[in-house]
Order: sequence, then structure tokens, then C-alpha cells
Amino acid sequence: MMEIDFVRSRFIKHFDGKTGNVYASPGRINLIGEHTDYNGGFVFPGAVDKGIMAEIRANGTEDTVMAYAIDLKDRVDFHLDDPAGPRASWARYIYGIALEMKKRGVPVKGFNIAFAGDVPLGAGMSSSAAMESCIAFGLNDIFGDNKVSQWDMVLAGQATEHNYCGVNCGIMDQFASVFGKAGCLMRLDCRSREFEYFPFKPDGYRLVLLDSVVKHQLAGSPYNDRRNSCENVVKHIQAKHPEGKFETLRDCTWEQLDEVRAEVGEEDYKRAKFVLGEKDRVLAVCDALNEGDYEKVGEMMYQTHEGLSKDYEVSCEELDFLNDIAKENGVTGSRIMGGGFGGCTINLVRNDLYRTFIADAKKRFNEKYGHEPKVYDVVIGDGSRKLC
Ligand code: GLA
Repeated sequence: MMEIDFVRSRFIKHFDGKTGNVYASPGRINLIGEHTDYNGGFVFPGAVDKGIMAEIRANGTEDTVMAYAIDLKDRVDFHLDDPAGPRASWARYIYGIALEMKKRGVPVKGFNIAFAGDVPLGAGMSSSAAMESCIAFGLNDIFGDNKVSQWDMVLAGQATEHNYCGVNCGIMDQFASVFGKAGCLMRLDCRSREFEYFPFKPDGYRLVLLDSVVKHQLAGSPYNDRRNSCENVVKHIQAKHPEGKFETLRDCTWEQLDEVRAEVGEEDYKRAKFVLGEKDRVLAVCDALNEGDYEKVGEMMYQTHEGLSKDYEVSCEELDFLNDIAKENGVTGSRIMGGGFGGCTINLVRNDLYRTFIADAKKRFNEKYGHEPKVYDVVIGDGSRKLC
């Protein structure tokens, strides 16, 4: 995590010399359970030790927000009652989450904010969810006596993506950012919202992310198409079975999926097939973790990669290449992490293979693409919090 003084010194310099409160929220990893959240399935994320830090102070105005993005050296001022909101994409997160917190009963007034991040942007580690939950947490504290619940902050972050940023995402990222706990992964049932903390200390193994540095961009992207495909399949199954209640693919069986295969077409069929398989894999991973069977966990991760690449079609050449290198190095498990279309692979690696794997991945990726992948050792950290 970055230093509070780094953010504070900029906040003082760019505004009126006064200090505010400082908040932090993390990005996330996800062991398994991809594209299952908006399908009512399970996910298995954890917060990381990297995220967004923001200093915020009420500025005494009714609705003027003065925002400074420290890393971009960009300043944007806007009004909360301006229906169009700011144009800069980073400022839209601030605008969106402020309005969503207002909707949930927080009397948000004008404020100054400066923020910085050390979670890589576009790497599939949810820098945007980190931003939303950090500001939600801060506004709840400053203007709302912390009366909005953690779950409502999660939903406010998700609604920000839907209503102001064009991404019809699920709840995994915001959930992980708000509820994260050091040393623990969390298994969340996205339908009932029940979850449990899962201490994760794989003896003899470690988790490492390899960032292809292919920027993933979910806004207005094929991400929403994938979601539409899943919803379309559910609609067809529901029409065939009016007696049942089918809200998401979670409610559908393999047989029912096969019944609608011809009508929905191969593309939607393959996407739904991935989701049903992924739902089962998360549960298999939980059992395997309980038994300390990391080889099984890894096997499931490779299967997920295969499905995300061939059936869900959210991989790219660089991520498939990193996955192949992992396999050839005998890495226990490896797969695309997050929404896809770029970003990172997550790798479960035996300690004794770690050095040779990383060296080989750097060398071969560099030979092929002219730069090395970035390497992030995973440290599972805490969720949203006030620092001072
Ligand atoms: C993005 C979305 C999440 C989730 C993942 C894929 O990170 O924000 O809601 O759907 O993709 O698992």
C-alpha cells in the first residue's frame, strides 16, 4: 500500500491547504468463478494489498465536487446536480458513486477529493471497484454517519458501473473490495449473497499474477454481450418451462440447456455451457481446498481457462500464450482472471517451480511480444477502511 503522506501532500497542495479524512479500498483477485456473478452463481475472490487511496473533505458548498487524480495529474470540477455529469471517465466514477450514495439516503454535499492508486489499471484487478468502494466508504463516513450498510455500498458501486460507466457487471468486484479480509478468500453465493471467509495459506504453493499488459476495457464492450447471451438462454428455457422459475443460469440444468441449443444458436449455447461448468468448478475447488488438494484446484483452473478461451471467448493471444507457458512449466493451475479481453493470468505455483516459471515466462513473452509480462505476487489484504 502507498503512503498516506503521498496522497495528503497533494490534497493540501491542490485545494485550500486543509486536510480531510483518508480512506483506502483494495482491488481483488479471484481464484475461480468467472462470469458467474451475474448468473447467480458462486465466486471465490479475495482483496489484495493494492488499491485506491483517497482523501476527502466536505467543502461547504451545496453540490460542487473538486476532484484531483494524482496519478494522472488531472483536475476536474463538476456539480452533483448536473444531469450530464463530467466527461472524464475517472471523474464519472466519483459522480456516479456520489449520486448512488445519495439515492441510498446519504445527504452528500460538495466535497474535495484527491486520490491515487497502486492497483494496475486495466489489469483485471478491479481498479474501478476499488475506486467506487473507497469513495462510497468515505461519503458514508463524512455525510452519512456510516448508516449505509456494507452491502448497500457494494450495490451502489455496481449501480455506478451500470448507470454511469456502461458496464453491466455483477457484484463480485465491489463485494471483494468492501468485504475483503487479510489472509482470506471469500466464497460468495451471488444469488443469496451468503458468503464465508476461507483462510488461504496453501502450504508449498503461492499465487502469482502475470500481467500481459494488454489493456482490458469493459465499457461498451463484449462483456455486456456475454451477459446478454446468458440472459437470452434463460429466457428460452423459461419459455419452454412456464411451470418453473428461471431467473439466471443458476436455475438451469444441463438438460434444459441442451433443449434450447438449436433455438439459441451455437454462440449463446457455448457461453451458457461455460457458465454451468464454472458453477460446478467453484464448488469442486471448495471441496479440494478443504482437503488440501491443490493439484485438483489447479486442474479446475486450467479447465476454466479453456472454457473462457474457447467457449466464452474472452481470452486473447497473449493470455493463451501465458497459459501455455504455465502448463509447460508444470505450474499447478493457471487461467485468465477477471472479465478477460486482456489483463492477467492467475497462477497457482509450487514454490520450487516459481523461479524457473517466472524466468521462462518473462523470456518467452519478451521474445514474442517485445516486452515482459509484469509479475505481481498475491498478498491477500483487507477491504475498505478509514486510515485517518
Ligand atoms: C468483471 C466484472 C465482474 C465479473 C468479472 C468476471 O470483473 O466486474 O462483475 O463478472 O468481470 O468474473
